[in-house]
Amino acid sequence: MIEIIGILILGYLLGSIPFALLVGKWGHGMDIRQHGSGNLGTTNTFRVLGKKAGIIVLIGDLGKGAVASLVPILLGSELHPLFAGLAAVIGHIYPIFAKFKGGKAVATSGGMLLVSSPILFLILLISFLTTLRFSRMVSLSSIVAASIGIVAAITIGIVEQDWIVPTFFTVLALFVIFKHRENISRIRQGTESKINMFAKDKK
Ligand code: G3P
Repeated sequence: MIEIIGILILGYLLGSIPFALLVGKWGHGMDIRQHGSGNLGTTNTFRVLGKKAGIIVLIGDLGKGAVASLVPILLGSELHPLFAGLAAVIGHIYPIFAKFKGGKAVATSGGMLLVSSPILFLILLISFLTTLRFSRMVSLSSIVAASIGIVAAITIGIVEQDWIVPTFFTVLALFVIFKHRENISRIRQGTESKINMFAKDKK
C-alpha cells in the first residue's frame, strides 16, 4: 500500500513540473501565462515562444506522463500504469509548483497512453494529426481525438472484455474536453487561433 501511495505521489510531482513555465522563464525571460491563451501547455508555448521551445515542452509534458506510467511497470507494482499516469495528468492540470494552475493535459495524457495503451495512443495520434491538418486548430484536434478515443476505447473494451481502459479513458477524455470549454466557445465564434505547421520559426 505504501508503495502504491509513493508511486502516486511521485507521479503527481512529476506531472507538476511546469515545463512551459520553466522554458518560458529560463529560456526567454517570459511568463507564458501572461501571453497567448495563458495556458501552461505545449500549444501555448509553440504559439508564444516558437517551435524550438514548443518541442522541448512537448517532450517534457509527454515524457512526464510516460515516465509516471512506467514507474509501476519497472517496480513490478500491482498498480495499473494508467493510474500512475493519471497522477501525472492531475499534477499537470493542478501543479503544486505553479499555484495549481496548469495546462489541459493533452500531451501528458498522450504520454500516459503511449505506455499504458499504445493502440489507443496511435488512434488518438492519427485522429489528432488528421484534424490538425485540415483545421489548423490544436484545441479542435484535441477535442476530436478525445471524442474518437472514447469510441475506440469502448471498442477495445468490448474486444478485450476488460473495462479498465474504456472506463478510465472516457472519464479522462470528458474532463479534457471540459477543460477546453473556452476554446469551444472561441471555435463557435470563429475566433480560435490557428497554427501554421509549415511556417519558419522566427524566434
Ligand atoms: O493542448 C491544449 C490545446 O488543445 C489548446 O491549448 O493554448 O490553444 O488553449 P490553447
